[in-house]
Amino acid sequence: MRRVLITGGAGFIGANFVLHLSKASPADRLIVLDKLTYAGNIENLKALTEGPNYRFVKGDINDAALVDGLFHDEAIDTVVNFAAESHVDRSILGPRDFVETNILGTFTLLEAARKYWLRGEGRPEGKRFLHVSTDEVYGSLGATGLFTETTAYSPNSPYAASKASSDHLVRAYFHTYGLPVVTTNCSNNYGPFQFPEKLIPLMVINALKGKPLPVYGDGQNVRDWLFVEDHCKAIALVLNKGRLGETYNVGGRNEKKNIDIVKLICSLVDERAQKDSGLRKDFPFEGSRSSLIHFVKDRPGHDRRYAIDCSKIEKELGWTPEHAFEDGIRKTVDWYMDNRAWWERILSGEYTEYYNLQYGKRLG
Ligand code: NAD
Ligand code: TYD
Repeated sequence: MRRVLITGGAGFIGANFVLHLSKASPADRLIVLDKLTYAGNIENLKALTEGPNYRFVKGDINDAALVDGLFHDEAIDTVVNFAAESHVDRSILGPRDFVETNILGTFTLLEAARKYWLRGEGRPEGKRFLHVSTDEVYGSLGATGLFTETTAYSPNSPYAASKASSDHLVRAYFHTYGLPVVTTNCSNNYGPFQFPEKLIPLMVINALKGKPLPVYGDGQNVRDWLFVEDHCKAIALVLNKGRLGETYNVGGRNEKKNIDIVKLICSLVDERAQKDSGLRKDFPFEGSRSSLIHFVKDRPGHDRRYAIDCSKIEKELGWTPEHAFEDGIRKTVDWYMDNRAWWERILSGEYTEYYNLQYGKRLG
């Protein structure tokens, strides 16, 4: 039985991971620490009940006293660090939060782990700090080639630079202090619970509502898309079997141009609305939703192409992505159609009230 501190566990990937681990490893005690920023949503974890196997703590990974207290009181032996500011566009508009959470927050967690885990000689037994990172640290690819674990870091956005910096700190704590760390660098995720500012949920919701679909630049930028459940399984595997001090690239072997994704979403939303009289009534629309696509000014410093070589995790740990993109994207569109209350509440800001109702009295 592990005592796992999961930071950022109320966000998109974090919540999917908490739900996955609670089923895959039911003996573990999961302690979720999340600040509940605009991107964190306690409702994502409503399937879980607080008790011996699960506790939710509202708080900041930068709060050293809080983090130290959790290490001490909960005897944390495992950390999975998802907490981050994660949206590139926001990092361009306001990079400070990215530096504070992604760099200083990770530093605060590393310091707590160092303090509580490295009291004796040598590497501590049974402890593990898994840092969740991104392929964006490697910069941009041309038309060919793949990112491997030995590709030089070359981050281009403030978001990517802050994640790169946190990766370097994690690496340094292994080499300098012997902290038992492992890092994953994953490509773009999609699936349930993704905040509707990211490409896929934004386009699904706007297409349904008949609103414009803003494609940056010429729409030819390429991302390597991975269904979030496949990412969660990769993280669980690296947590169990990854070699300490190593980094593992995780990707879908699934390169897509943005414009092709947006067109596919339009056709899936059209198809779903055809079949669903309730949706047709609430969101009347004539013709094909691809007519809503319009090209807008490009994102500054927009990376052209990301693509991951994930052969290391495949060969060493036996992981492989299980979802074909066609199935994963269909599941995702269906999830957003079936969970309108989830995103309508987020878009209205009402979900903060839900949070207060659920946790207000106890957590303040
Ligand atoms: P997200 O923005 O959906 O969620 C981030 C979570 O962290 C939220 O719940 C938020 O409340 C919490 N948080 C933010 N600042 C905090 C702080 N100071 N203290 C405590 N909690 C805080 O992000 P996501 O898409 O789920 O990404 C999770 C992690 O995975 C990030 O580290 C990100 O860099 C990495 N990642 C994301 C992707 C992707 O495609 N989304 C791909 C690869 C790696
Ligand atoms: P995003 O989901 O923000 O992820 P990231 O920037 O981390 O890869 O964007 C994915 C791609 O979609 C990226 O090339 C930018 C593009 N994009 C648009 O064209 N329009 C949009 O409204 C958004 C949010 C993204």
